[in-house]
Amino acid sequence: MRMYDLIHAKKRGGALTEAEIRFWVDGVVDGSIPDEQSASMLMAICWRGMTTEETLALTLAMRDSGKVMDLSSIPGVKVDKHSTGGVGDKTTLILGPLVAACGVPCAMFSGRGLGHTGGTVDKFAAVPGLRVELSDADFLKSLRETGFANSAQTPDLVPADRRLYALRDVTATVESIPLITASIMSKKLAGGCGALVLDVKCGSAAFMSNLEEARGLAQSLVSVGKAYGMRVKALITRMEEPLGRTIGNALEVRECIEILQGRHVDSDLARMSLRLAAEMVLMGGGAQSLPEAEAKVQEALASGAALGVLRAFIALHGGDARVVDEPGRLPQAPCRRVVRAAAAGWVARMDGRELGLAAMELGAGRRSQQDIIDPAVGLELEVAVGQAVAAGQALATLYGASEGALDQVQDRVQLAIQVGGVTQISMPWLLETLE
Ligand code: URA
Repeated sequence: MRMYDLIHAKKRGGALTEAEIRFWVDGVVDGSIPDEQSASMLMAICWRGMTTEETLALTLAMRDSGKVMDLSSIPGVKVDKHSTGGVGDKTTLILGPLVAACGVPCAMFSGRGLGHTGGTVDKFAAVPGLRVELSDADFLKSLRETGFANSAQTPDLVPADRRLYALRDVTATVESIPLITASIMSKKLAGGCGALVLDVKCGSAAFMSNLEEARGLAQSLVSVGKAYGMRVKALITRMEEPLGRTIGNALEVRECIEILQGRHVDSDLARMSLRLAAEMVLMGGGAQSLPEAEAKVQEALASGAALGVLRAFIALHGGDARVVDEPGRLPQAPCRRVVRAAAAGWVARMDGRELGLAAMELGAGRRSQQDIIDPAVGLELEVAVGQAVAAGQALATLYGASEGALDQVQDRVQLAIQVGGVTQISMPWLLETLE
């Protein structure tokens, strides 16, 4: 078999066989296929697409490029959640403990952030001392003892995705439904869970900017998961403005702790986290219906049981569990500045992408994989879309390492929060569900 012939076939719109796809993926991992040939294949797939059979074969070949977790020693259906990536998306820190507190084991491997979106691993890493890269033994121990396990993806889990994703990132080939599907689902299958809830983001701050594209991705992810025996459901959710009030790692951890303490429970972040948790409890067999699952999740919140899971999880992995009761112990930025409304009006729009980039500029995210994150910095929104504001009213608070760093982003934040002359109807966070 020659890689040249496979690229040529795909360039002309042909379908690759399972053996051909495996030949390519194996060659990516063992280095026998050079990057330029893989990059050409990726571009050909972007233009020509893949059939369902090809997407299934690519997913499996990628899963098999590394280790597959065996969670069978833990009883029950293990559940996972995946979000396609959003600004301020911190639902994992809330829903993981909630699901575990309902008696359903929740096992997740998470990523680090890149560009304007954050990563769950970076958020957990803001907790002083907390180990975020768990060995298999520690991952299983966590699941057994607390019902919740979250670890950074280790290099031996789907190594083909590391290589291919790095190539996609520099060749403008990220936005392809079959490639995104195989990338996400190979990692989810390798993670070993039996049920998965997908949060497919839709909007200007997401990969999929309109409902039609988001539906296409959701459908593709669900059908691949089902074909391999997983229970899967997708929720398509809006991603225009940031999710929640904070962007930046320690700030986001604090916001999650506050929700688990029962505060801000009428926010979109809380509603979304509780709904996703209920879907996971239902899929994991912890309830017979969605209303029953929702009631269980509410009880896990109200009783403090979910907060207890988070406390136990942090303590088990060397973190300072006192942050759960005293969030002031999280890293604090030395400089703060309030951004104020220039004139009275209504908050018309908040550009999630721009605010994510501003947080990244402050040091809360990475421009490239090698960048080091400052856990303390970021921003906190003081208003919501549709809210009336007076001239001079606080729109956001910036947290930075220096006054100079704050100077650099102040205008960007001011422009990203648009105050206009007409009121806005706030839009629902949940657009559609699909299973
Ligand atoms: N997230 C992934 O893990 N892979 C993609 O290709 C896109 C989003």
